[in-house]
Amino acid sequence: MRLTILGGGGFRVPLVYRALLADRGEGRIDRVVLHDVDPARLAAIRRVLAEQADGVADAPAVTATTDLDAALTGADFVFSAIRVGGLAGRAADERVALAEGVLGQETVGAGGIAYGLRTVPVAVDIARRVARLAPDAWVVNFTNPAGLVTEAMSRVLGDRVIGICDSPVGLGRRVARVLGADPARAWIDYAGLNHLGWLRGLRVGGRDLLPDLLADEAALGSFEEGRLFGAAWLRSLGAIPNEYLHYYYANRETVRAYREAERTRGAYLRDQQAGFYTAAARPEVRALDAWRRTLAGREATYMAANREAAGDAGGRAPEDLEPGGYERVALALMRAVARDERATLILNVRNRSALPGLDADAVVEVACLVDANGAHPVAVAPLPYHALGLVAAVKAVEREVLAAAESGSREAAVKAFALHPLVDSVAVARRLLDAYRAEHPGLAYLG
Ligand code: G6P
Ligand code: MN
Repeated sequence: MRLTILGGGGFRVPLVYRALLADRGEGRIDRVVLHDVDPARLAAIRRVLAEQADGVADAPAVTATTDLDAALTGADFVFSAIRVGGLAGRAADERVALAEGVLGQETVGAGGIAYGLRTVPVAVDIARRVARLAPDAWVVNFTNPAGLVTEAMSRVLGDRVIGICDSPVGLGRRVARVLGADPARAWIDYAGLNHLGWLRGLRVGGRDLLPDLLADEAALGSFEEGRLFGAAWLRSLGAIPNEYLHYYYANRETVRAYREAERTRGAYLRDQQAGFYTAAARPEVRALDAWRRTLAGREATYMAANREAAGDAGGRAPEDLEPGGYERVALALMRAVARDERATLILNVRNRSALPGLDADAVVEVACLVDANGAHPVAVAPLPYHALGLVAAVKAVEREVLAAAESGSREAAVKAFALHPLVDSVAVARRLLDAYRAEHPGLAYLG
C-alpha cells in the first residue's frame, strides 16, 4: 500500500510515520511518498524519518518529490496536510483579526475565513488532480479549516475524501477516562461541524454515563474541558462542547487576552519551527532530537492563552501532552478501509441525512461506521436550537467561502466575514477583507 503525504515537509509528518512504523498488520503502508512545495522542509523531515526508521526492520520506504502529479500517481491513500501561506500566513490571519477587535485564531472566526479563502482553491486543484491521476485513492484531509476544505474537495471527489480531526477523539478519551470507561468500548454521541461540536452522551452497555459526570462537581473539575467551560455552564448545556467552542462562549475574554498576548499562537509556532528547520539543516545536528525538542515545547504551550482567558492554570493532563490523536485517527481510518475492518470513528463526511437541519452535501463531523466502502455517517439526534443555530450560521459562512473561491467574487467574501457570528459588523467585514488581501498574495483572485 502506498501513501502519499501532501505537506510532506510539515512538522507533524513524523507523528504519522511513527504510527506507520508501529503498524505490523497485514496490508500496511509499505511506501510513503512525501510531497511539498518547499524542498528544504522536505529534506529536513526526510532526515527525521530516516532517523526514526533507523534499526526498524521493514520500515516503510520513503521517497520525496516536489512534483505534485508524480506524487499522486499510483497512490492508494493521499493524506492532505498542507498549510497554504505557511505559519507566517497563520500569524497574519490571527493578527489582522485581532487588530480589528475580533477573534484572531487559526480556524475559527475571521482568521479561519481568511485561511479558508486561500486554501480552498489549492485544495480543489489537488482534488481535480487526484480524480485524474489516482481516481481510486482515498483522500484523508487534515488540511484546515478541515470541514470546509473537505466539503470543497467532496464537490470533486464525492465520498472518496474524508476529513479528520483529533479534537473530538481527544474529548471523548478525556470524558471516558474521567468516567472510568474504556474509550474503545464506549459509544460517543458527538455531533456538529469541525471545531464546532458537542459531546452529548457517552454510552456503555446501553447506559448514558454523561449525566453522572454532569452531576459530579469534582469530576468536572478534573479534565480540560470541564475546567475550561466550568461546571455550571456544562450543566446548563447538558453536553460537553469541543474546546473550540470556548471561542464562542468566552469570546470577549479570549479576544482581550489574545490582544494582550505578546504573540499569537501562529507567531509562536512560526518562530519556534523556523528554529527546528534551521537546526535540521545542519549536518552535525540529529534531526530527530531537534524535532522532539520542538514538539515538547509546542505541546506544553498548547492553547495556553485560551486557558489563561478561562482563568485556568491547570492545563492538560500529562497523558494528553502525548500527541496521538491525529495520526491515530488517520491510521485507524486507513486500516478500516484497507482491511475492511469495521471501525467507529468521528469523521468529517457529507451529511446525507445524519444530522437533521443540514442538507445532504454539507460536510459534518459525526460518528461514522468505516469499512472498505468508506465512511458511513450514523444518524444522530437533532442538535438543540442554540447549537443548530451556530452550526447553520457557520455552514452558511463556509458556503460563501466556497462561492467566493469558485467565482472570485468580492461580495461573497465580504458576506462570509459579515455572516460569521464572531464578526459583529458588515463594515468590519469589509475592512477585514481589505486587510487580508493586503497581507496575502494568495487572495489576489478576489475581485
Ligand atoms: C488541534 C486541532 C487542529 C489544529 C491544532 C492547532 O490539533 O484539531 O485542527 O490545527 O490543534 O494546534 P497548534 O499546536 O498548531 O496550535
Ligand atoms: Mn482539528
